[in-house]
Amino acid sequence: MTPCASTSTRRAGQGIAFVIGATALVILLVRGGEQWLRSLLLYLSGAPWARRMVTGFAPAWAVAGRFVAGESVDEAIDAAHQLNAEGMSVAIDFLGESVTTATEADDARDQLLLLVDRMRGAQVEGYVSIKLSQLGLNLGENLALQNLRAILEAARAANVRVRIDMEESATVDMTLDIYRRLRNGEGFDNVGVVIQSYLYRSEEDVKKLVAEGAWVRLVKGAYREPAAVAYADKRDTDAAYMRLVQMLLSEDALANGVELAVATHDEAMILQTMAYARTRGIASDRFEFQMLYGIRRERQRELAAQGWRMRVYVPYGTAWYPYFMRRLAERPANLWFFVSSLFKK
Ligand code: FDA
Repeated sequence: MTPCASTSTRRAGQGIAFVIGATALVILLVRGGEQWLRSLLLYLSGAPWARRMVTGFAPAWAVAGRFVAGESVDEAIDAAHQLNAEGMSVAIDFLGESVTTATEADDARDQLLLLVDRMRGAQVEGYVSIKLSQLGLNLGENLALQNLRAILEAARAANVRVRIDMEESATVDMTLDIYRRLRNGEGFDNVGVVIQSYLYRSEEDVKKLVAEGAWVRLVKGAYREPAAVAYADKRDTDAAYMRLVQMLLSEDALANGVELAVATHDEAMILQTMAYARTRGIASDRFEFQMLYGIRRERQRELAAQGWRMRVYVPYGTAWYPYFMRRLAERPANLWFFVSSLFKK
């Protein structure tokens, strides 16, 4: 991030911080306010005007940098090495999503090919996470398919796996279709997907993925979704999460070769998964825990030290704005930290 904010950019940044802060305060005071705040931040995560203001304002990076390993692939590799040295593996994510031209999609593909190559050279213990919207999904399914195929070919040669992150609900069918065409149709066994427990449809999707012996990361879901497709209440999302954990650790799932990643910072989900595995006699190496870079760092280390398989999702790159805003939406305390830091000299 270029730390040369002009006075007007600083004022604009402080202006938006003030508006966000004041609005947040008001809506937190009313019943159900936290849900509104989450929606507001998720709306801002996709608003170009807000992105311009926040990213043009140097102090914002100071806060975003807590969740992002750096701008360059070298910084991501350094972070990965540190985590590897502490007994944790990584999922490295070159930040970027929703590209608007085929050239941008091709550039993202090339950056991801570079990342695969660097991971092999640097002997990183980890895999690559990608977003299909970064590879052109919104411009056409075929463009994203071709770009992903190129990455999977290089990754297979480098003995690196690739996980397709899940994005907005409108893209789930296309994402699963591309995943199946490449994994089941073309035999790429180095590709996995993500399932979001807030979506009503996920139970049906998981049934199919269990039958296919898929490699699945289970998350709660990070996007703004209407009540027609997703649970609005955290308790429903949490209950669905644990139902899906049990499906993905069922006898059938394990016999079919399903590999589950329990990706959450929620202590209740972590403890319930451990308890479920214990009562069913499922060995701790049959699944792994995953958390995001910079979130619950102590707990990450502790789980690894206790012998659990622990993987950290390591994002890097300059396109950090939407990723950062989703992290703010997940926890209001992060928002206060962000707003107050913008006013510090
Ligand atoms: P929840 O949001 O209920 O939080 C539980 C507790 O965890 C909080 O009370 C707090 O203590 C802590 N916590 C959670 N978020 C925090 C934050 N940002 N900062 C500080 N503390 C926090 N989503 C998606 O839609 N598609 C995807 O592909 C992925 N991929 C992905 C990979 C990995 C490795 C992880 C961990 C998460 C994702 N996600 C995702 C994001 C996921 O959907 C979800 O939004 C976040 O993980 C937050 O939900 P939790 O399960 O952590 O629980």
